[in-house]
Amino acid sequence: MKLVKLIANLGYGSRKEIAAMFREGRITDAQGEVLYADDKVGHDAIRIDGEPLDPPAGMTLMLHKPIGYTCSTKDPGRVIYDLLPLRFRARSPLLSSVGRLDRDTSGLLLMTDDGALLHRIVSPKAKLAKVYEVTLAQDLRGDEGEVFASGTLMLESENTPLAPAALEVHDARHAALTVTEGRYHQVRRMFAAVGNHVDALHRSRIGGLSLGDLPAGKWRMLDAADLNALFGGAA
Ligand code: URA
Repeated sequence: MKLVKLIANLGYGSRKEIAAMFREGRITDAQGEVLYADDKVGHDAIRIDGEPLDPPAGMTLMLHKPIGYTCSTKDPGRVIYDLLPLRFRARSPLLSSVGRLDRDTSGLLLMTDDGALLHRIVSPKAKLAKVYEVTLAQDLRGDEGEVFASGTLMLESENTPLAPAALEVHDARHAALTVTEGRYHQVRRMFAAVGNHVDALHRSRIGGLSLGDLPAGKWRMLDAADLNALFGGAA
């Protein structure tokens, strides 16, 4: 791939803007030698203003989504892309979230430009466990774990029952719910179905991957070991 296109695809600017950056000498190799647009060098050898390039296509990251942000590009309010470098919005292929978290839900959100990986994660066949920490408006009544584990709970306006889900009760108003599906507003609707209301919702884990000590609003790239943990269920 030509260098101008390669760099433009990473969102650093339009092809015209990248061509201008070459002319200005801002694009160099690792030793600081100015590169020309028709040079034949690989992604890893390129620097812009002395900085290595963002990863090429196949980039996956985790974001600790704070409350108040939507997983949309179009929402007029705060969106998850505001928490990432501006150029990530202009990447080709597009960087998108793997499923969604509601505006009022915080926690682990994966983002990738790898369509095959995205489908592998969200595919019902993968049955990847997603763990949600829940704060409830009312005390648990005691039978919720059984109802959620039954595999027969039907959410309003749906025609297939939910797969079994596991509830771990911390105290009367706090619990962790592990689900393997990703239906619309699933956790909130599950608790509504048992007469409760979710006051706060936080996703702490997907498969074997958790946020670790990543603070709210921050993100980090995932590497092969992270993806292995994601699918392998390792801690
Ligand atoms: N379930 C919900 O209700 N909301 C989320 O954001 C995720 C799961």
